[in-house]
Amino acid sequence: MKCSLSILVTTTVLAVVGCSQSNTETDSIAPVDFAMEVRPLLETNCLACHHGEVSMGGLNLQYRDGAFAASDRGTSIVPGDPDSSLIYTMTAIRHGKQDEVMPADGVMLTEAQRKLLHRWIKEGAHWPTGEDGVLKPLTIQPGKA
Ligand code: HEC
Repeated sequence: MKCSLSILVTTTVLAVVGCSQSNTETDSIAPVDFAMEVRPLLETNCLACHHGEVSMGGLNLQYRDGAFAASDRGTSIVPGDPDSSLIYTMTAIRHGKQDEVMPADGVMLTEAQRKLLHRWIKEGAHWPTGEDGVLKPLTIQPGKA
């Protein structure tokens, strides 16, 4: 039996790809975009219970007027003051009252989503008038986070 030994020299080329896509600079400077960021957040997480026919707690987030309305509990959006805005404060558990946390179906917003709402309200809670400011409840289940 003949055994042959072959030495295979493998040359590995390491391609170092610079993938530093740190957008921290733009993140902290660019104002929150209602159409791209806030609107989808509300449509995905809140509209099911807070639109036209189903305005739970009297809150209709489908229209600008409804979203900024006040109730016995307080005001849902106070531009510039997230901590007085129910739309923000009610997304956190306060005083251990889990049953008051929005969304009311058990899936809490992520920290990133809460921060986005906070920033948006702080920046003046820009909500366009007209068609651009009319939100639509989702008719399909969101397939992605
Ligand atoms: C599964 C249904 C459901 C979802 C989803 C939901 N809510 Fe609610 N929401 C309710 C109900 C029910 C009430 C009334 C609670 C009460 O009055 O005790 C309410 C009340 C509120 C109120 C208080 C209204 C007032 O002035 O008294 C706010 C603000 C609110 N929701 C914000 C949100 C936000 C923001 C989201 C999304 C992040 C959300 N909700 C998602 C069911 C829901």
